[in-house]
Amino acid sequence: MFAVEARGLTKRFGEFTAVDHIDLLVESGRIFGLLGPNGAGKTTTIRMITGLLKPTEGYVRVYGMDVLKNRRSVLRMIGYMPQRSSLYDDLTVEENLYLYTMLYDFSRQEAKRRTEELLKEFFLDKFRDRLVGNLSGGMKRRLALAITLVHDPKLLILDEPTVGVDPPLRRQFWERFRQLVSKGKTILVTTHYMDEAENCDEIALISHGRMIASGTPEAIKRRAFGGELIEVLLDREPPCDPPEFAKIISVNGRKVRLLVDDYGGRSAQLMDFLRERGFKILEMRPVRVSLEDAFIRLMGERS
Ligand SMILES: Nc1ncnc2c1ncn2[C@@H]1O[C@H](COP(=O)(O)OP(=O)(O)OP(=O)(O)O)[C@@H](O)[C@H]1O
Ligand SMILES: [Mg+2]
Repeated sequence: MFAVEARGLTKRFGEFTAVDHIDLLVESGRIFGLLGPNGAGKTTTIRMITGLLKPTEGYVRVYGMDVLKNRRSVLRMIGYMPQRSSLYDDLTVEENLYLYTMLYDFSRQEAKRRTEELLKEFFLDKFRDRLVGNLSGGMKRRLALAITLVHDPKLLILDEPTVGVDPPLRRQFWERFRQLVSKGKTILVTTHYMDEAENCDEIALISHGRMIASGTPEAIKRRAFGGELIEVLLDREPPCDPPEFAKIISVNGRKVRLLVDDYGGRSAQLMDFLRERGFKILEMRPVRVSLEDAFIRLMGERS
């Protein structure tokens, strides 16, 4: 069973189609990233997944349950962090946590205990009496993340959790996500930071409401370039034709870039091929393609 199963998800606002027939399958125990530029439809998609917004077409199931028909049970399984803050600026850190805890059916005592736990877990106890309005942006996001966990949900839906967070803290956030997943949570996260997206187990790229690509970061990169790139440094310039399993992308003196379907599978073959022709291989490495390169290429294909 999938944590999230969305089929043909579509949202129209009047004439405008914000989300256009998107299919999403999020496996349990994964970090799934929803990526796309501003206005792509990420937040609209997420709001439909949480059941807050009714799709024009299509449906969403969370752990097998239709989100519109089982709103209460679904909301119990989801910890949702909205893109814009849902914190109360004129309450303290502790009061914010306690308030959200009380929204679930905890007794006063249990709510206190849960609040304490989360204050500790998220290193917020030192700031417990601070008014949220006086916190830094990063600290606010940390508190917001703690709040999504008050009812111990199975699925976390985080809409741009690291916006306005500086790089060291962003890294901590991602370490925390990994930790949560290792404890059995599933995370659906949106971002437009491509370097962050590399940390996802699986991603879906959307643009203008449409799905452009999905899969593991590796698979997406492979698809964008039609394979993987290998760079070889030889002892002399290569006058020979490439083997049938590789395509020459560029030759720069003794440095050659080749496109193959799979680096792992082809590198040894390529070595043999070159050695048989009397070349010395001084260096051979996979060329790291960034997800950003891949997306620019994939988006370019569409426009
Ligand atoms: N309630 C609404 N009524 C009309 N148009 C809307 C509404 N909500 C969103 N839109 C439009 O739908 C499109 C997608 O918006 P959405 O907020 O889902 O994008 P996003 O990918 O989350 O963008 P961002 O990265 O800026 O958060 C935008 O063009 C937006 O203006
Ligand atoms: Mg958004």
